Amino acid sequence: MEKHYAVIGDPIEHSLSPGMHNAGYAALGVNAEYQRFHVKPGQLAEAVEGLCALGYSGWNVTLPHKEHIIPLLDSLTPEAKRAGAVNTVKIHEGKRIGHNTDGAGFIRSVEGYLNGFKGKNAVLLGGGGAAKGIALALVEQGMNIHILNRTREKGIELVELIKHWGGTATSGEFAPGDWLTDVDLLVQTTSVGLHDEPFPFSIKGIFSQTLVVDIIVNPKETSLLKEAKKQGCRVLNGLDMLLYQGTLAWEFWLGGQAPVEEMRQALKKQLLQRMFYKG
Ligand SMILES: NC(=O)c1ccc[n+]([C@@H]2O[C@H](COP(=O)([O-])OP(=O)(O)OC[C@H]3O[C@@H](n4cnc5c(N)ncnc54)[C@H](OP(=O)(O)O)[C@@H]3O)[C@@H](O)[C@H]2O)c1
Repeated sequence: MEKHYAVIGDPIEHSLSPGMHNAGYAALGVNAEYQRFHVKPGQLAEAVEGLCALGYSGWNVTLPHKEHIIPLLDSLTPEAKRAGAVNTVKIHEGKRIGHNTDGAGFIRSVEGYLNGFKGKNAVLLGGGGAAKGIALALVEQGMNIHILNRTREKGIELVELIKHWGGTATSGEFAPGDWLTDVDLLVQTTSVGLHDEPFPFSIKGIFSQTLVVDIIVNPKETSLLKEAKKQGCRVLNGLDMLLYQGTLAWEFWLGGQAPVEEMRQALKKQLLQRMFYKG
């Protein structure tokens, strides 16, 4: 019997997940299909009932529903509980289980570049939903976290949450500072750069061994990554984070191992097509 999966969000047209998951099903001959649905904030409860009534086996959840969906679910995995957000739902024996693969997807994307996490320093630029998931996953790996968010209070709130889960964290001004010379991993999680605009401040003088990650997927290389390269740093964009949150969701739903390379190629193909059409 064909299985049905989807991603829900608002907006949703830009989502690369259907192409990525459907390519994975085709590669392994899995009898399933993955769709995208535009679900506005006031329609979330109805949409969840509808997906269940239609026999969906699971779905991904993106902005702005990752927190609001929680009361509509039967249980949460420890990852979803810790993040306070759900990006993956599985229907198991009629129950709705909320899970979160964003943090683990980020860890998987960077682990090959870092020689371990424990006791090292991570600086996060931003304090929104993505920063929260990444920060809690890095804390679980034993990293010390320094949060720099434009709205200082949100950065402080995230520090409190990290401490609540037993981690070590501080916050500071959204600006260059002493942290530049004492950072192993710099993660840019704000939406600045989505439209190729320059980053609000320079990272000149950053420790050249730092791995600099900008979780933006498109453009491929933001102005922050360009500057980091000039400083001699290794750089990574958000493609692998997107890929691994998807492969982990796949494995949560279907078991086994997701076809990572086929799913990566499907993401790249869609991005190339978009660049072509934009031009
Ligand atoms: N690669 C992936 O798989 C992946 C996954 C999730 C998200 N993302 C990307 O991550 C980015 C953030 O997503 P999110 O879910 O965290 O969004 P969000 O919850 O809305 O948070 C947005 C963050 O950006 C900051 N910000 C926005 N405009 C700014 C500006 N002009 N100057 C400084 N800071 C600014 C906000 O700071 P304030 O608190 O001061 O407003 C906040 O920290 C998006 O670009 C998204 O595409 C990538």
